[in-house]
Amino acid sequence: MAKPLIAGNWKMNGLAADLTEAVALAQALAQQPAKARVALCPPATLIERAARALADSPVLVGAEDCHAQVSGAFTGDISAEMLADAGAVLVVVGHSERRAGHGESDADVAAKALAAARAGLEPIICVGETLAEREAGRALEIVTGQIKGSVPAALAGGAVTVAYEPVWAIGTGLTPTIPQIEEVHGAIRQALVEVLGPAGAEVGILYGGSVKPDNAVEILRATEVGGALVGGASLKAADFLQIIRAV
Ligand code: PGA
Repeated sequence: MAKPLIAGNWKMNGLAADLTEAVALAQALAQQPAKARVALCPPATLIERAARALADSPVLVGAEDCHAQVSGAFTGDISAEMLADAGAVLVVVGHSERRAGHGESDADVAAKALAAARAGLEPIICVGETLAEREAGRALEIVTGQIKGSVPAALAGGAVTVAYEPVWAIGTGLTPTIPQIEEVHGAIRQALVEVLGPAGAEVGILYGGSVKPDNAVEILRATEVGGALVGGASLKAADFLQIIRAV
């Protein structure tokens, strides 16, 4: 099984001055190493500076999205190759804020995940149901459908991580119960084995959505939870560190 990963997603937050938080995190982890892999995904404008500031530290730098093509007439977009060139080693793809706000389909997400692998980046492929879908009893069907549509079979055996992020838990302070998380993660595991074969049994499945210092221990202990994707609580080194220490 993959080593746990605790990844911070800064979303559209952070100016250069905020990299002091990233540096403080790296210093704390230098003094007491983490049991997990640790990554920070700042906005694209900060990737290169973050990569410089965190060079020789255990904190990996990731991106929040990438385009599927290598280059071309795609104004405002950034390719996976460009992110790797700037110093990223991971990239989040298919976050629900991209799926909802930018109309990204499972096929778009799969193409981005392949682009990430092509550029040597580890994709963190996100899936998750809306509140309406959960209330209709469709959470497992939605999430396994997203896995089958968004995780390309060609990624089998390569570096890839999946994140289960219920849309209704993101930024709301709400979280599923532990049995609900375990049920979905179990279904994701089965779907990953269907898509990737035996390699699907090794893929880390992160939980994301309102992970905080006070719920991290319980969530990270749950069956099939291989780490966390953390939004708001990754912006401050002290909070993020407490989550990392919960592994
Ligand atoms: P949150 O965001 O931790 O602020 O809920 C998680 C995410 O969207 O990755």
